[in-house]
Amino acid sequence: MTLAPDPFRSATHGERHSAYTELNDRGPVHLVRQTRSRSIWLVTGHEEARACLIDPRLVKGGGSATIFGHRLDPGLLAATRTEMLSSDPPDHTRLRKLVSGAFTMRRIDQLAPRIQEIVDELLDALVDVESADLVAAFAYPLPMTVICELLGIPEERRGDFRTWSSLVIDPAVSGFETFAAAAEALVGFVRELIAIKRAQPADDLLSAVVAVRDGTDRLSEDELTSLVVLLLIAGHETTVNLLTNATYALLTHPGQLALLRSEPERLPAAVEEFLRFDGPLQVATQRVAGETFELGGVTIAAGDSVLVGLLAANRDTSHLPGADVLDITRTPTPHLAFGHGIHHCLGAPLARLEARIALGSLISHFPHLRLAEAAGDVPVDDAVLINGLTALHVATRPLPA
Ligand code: HEM
Repeated sequence: MTLAPDPFRSATHGERHSAYTELNDRGPVHLVRQTRSRSIWLVTGHEEARACLIDPRLVKGGGSATIFGHRLDPGLLAATRTEMLSSDPPDHTRLRKLVSGAFTMRRIDQLAPRIQEIVDELLDALVDVESADLVAAFAYPLPMTVICELLGIPEERRGDFRTWSSLVIDPAVSGFETFAAAAEALVGFVRELIAIKRAQPADDLLSAVVAVRDGTDRLSEDELTSLVVLLLIAGHETTVNLLTNATYALLTHPGQLALLRSEPERLPAAVEEFLRFDGPLQVATQRVAGETFELGGVTIAAGDSVLVGLLAANRDTSHLPGADVLDITRTPTPHLAFGHGIHHCLGAPLARLEARIALGSLISHFPHLRLAEAAGDVPVDDAVLINGLTALHVATRPLPA
């Protein structure tokens, strides 16, 4: 079987979506890499992707099967990959239950006033500037501040964290040495934080999970460390790209922007459409076939890796006619941007709340908001997992007469 074109390393936003469209035109499942021991499959059809996400024959296996997993020092692997996203039942069930109470819609809604405050502060700082990079000035600091405050990470310790986080999230792009060094630094940082919360517990999520670890035998030290690493990374890397991609989508679709401005009650549905149309993740985290089975006309052999193409599945026109068109009036908006099944995003209520407040406030603060660069020049993040922009330059003042 010949290899399908690689959609991951597209240089522009348009190229990335065109590559996925081409794959979807060919069929729902594609061979993207092959080694002597295993094949890597990319699933782009919506029905097949959804089926994979709930198929117990596809397992996570603790992350050792992921790229570099087998090369990483076993201690470091355990401290980063014994969290829920890399686990299968029954461990997954136990680990998720320990923190799921903190992410219910009701608990998350209580954060709205503080999120609004952070948003207003960030937007006020943009009022008098000629043009600004929205990623650096808004889309990144908002989710980063929110997750750090939720976990209780002191401001002075947030510094290096972003660099390590962005290197760890895409090992294939970072390369082994850089990835391993960043993972080690991140684990050291998290262990220090845990020690601080042990010595001085506070009213925050990190202190609460430390108490679970210390009070019962339901969480090992590695599981605690991995959980915090996961929450820190998952809590901001994705939301940054939701805010950025949604803003880019609005600024390149003026009719949709005008509609949202005139009918702001459409915001919740619009956020779902942004997640569907240009979601923050290209693929879900890697799964491994526990047994041989057929999918979309191909045979996936036991031991093969499967990447579920969330971005492609959300634009599968055989599932949703007109899927390649941005339409904020769609209801409902069926999408897989938060995954599906047991690993469905735990932070979805938080991400939705942040996006509604951030995007609603952005367009109401700045009636003249527009791109400050040509739409085609916007640089995409060179990543396998993430679908994002590295920068988005916008202008906020009225155009000179
Ligand atoms: C727009 C923003 C977000 C998107 C698109 C997103 C997407 C996803 C997806 C697709 C998965 C499942 C991956 C898989 O099955 O391989 C996932 C899992 C997860 N997400 Fe999110 N996420 C977002 C924001 C957040 C936030 C803010 C948090 C909060 C702290 C978070 C925490 C998690 C956790 C803990 C899991 C693992 C759940 C499990 O394995 O049971 N995410 N996310």
